[in-house]
Amino acid sequence: MDHIITENRDGILRIEINRPDKKNALTSAMYQAMADGIKAAEADSSVRVILIHGKPDLFTAGNDLQDFLDNPPRDDNRPVFQFLYGISQAQKPIVAAVAGVAVGIGTTMLLHCDLVYAATNARLQLPFVNLGLVPEAGSSLMLPALIGYQRAAELLLLGEPFTAQQAKEIGLVTEVLPEDQLFDTAMAQAKKLAGKPAASLRLTKRLMKQGQAEAVAQRIKLESDHFGERLASPEAKEAFSAFLEKRKPDFSRFD
Ligand code: COA
Repeated sequence: MDHIITENRDGILRIEINRPDKKNALTSAMYQAMADGIKAAEADSSVRVILIHGKPDLFTAGNDLQDFLDNPPRDDNRPVFQFLYGISQAQKPIVAAVAGVAVGIGTTMLLHCDLVYAATNARLQLPFVNLGLVPEAGSSLMLPALIGYQRAAELLLLGEPFTAQQAKEIGLVTEVLPEDQLFDTAMAQAKKLAGKPAASLRLTKRLMKQGQAEAVAQRIKLESDHFGERLASPEAKEAFSAFLEKRKPDFSRFD
């Protein structure tokens, strides 16, 4: 089974995350497939828009924790970073349709999308601290800039789930939709964009992002250095083992 399905149709490159038995958790191979899809879309003039989505009740549970243990991303050439640099630097518009769980990178990647539609069943979460890690995808810079320090601190330090409506209130989500309208609405909006002058879309997007683009790229790199280091930490090992062994982590013995 293809865990990432890509389809180029009517000017829209659709990237579907398709690993429901593991809650669409993302492995290195899946990041690579998504990075390759974005790269190909950027180079192909027949593609006007990129649409990223999962299943009707599932976006992604974030990084595959077992894959993290087996293939820790030690430097920023690894597939996850190719995906992050690809999505954050894409010139073409990106639409996301988010349903069900959107954990970790399932939430942070939305900071790099242009139109974000979320179903009422969406549950977003930034659990990096709970896993002994640090934020990624430039979120330590972009989230405080988007919503203010205190609100970002609540989401990043406590790492608790939040709803689609809360995500809309803080500006991370464009619109909240009933579950059965999510995909069709996101696709309809992608089609609208696909019919617009491509060069104007690209330039408008670049102009809006220009002020932050370099700082975002630098922050992704800085986060990746800390992330790699934290992945090897005893706290992260305890958090990952606890998840895989279906028990609560115990951080009491670590400073
Ligand atoms: N990495 C690896 N496997 C994962 C996963 C992840 N991030 N998220 C879910 N899975 C697997 C589970 O291990 C389980 O596998 P199994 O059936 O072989 O035991 C399967 O997906 C179903 O997950 P489960 O936890 O039983 O589903 P749930 O509906 O009770 O909970 C989540 C869903 C997403 C809330 C929960 O799975 C979760 O918290 N996952 C971890 C999220 C996370 O920390 N991501 C990393 C962010 S950096």
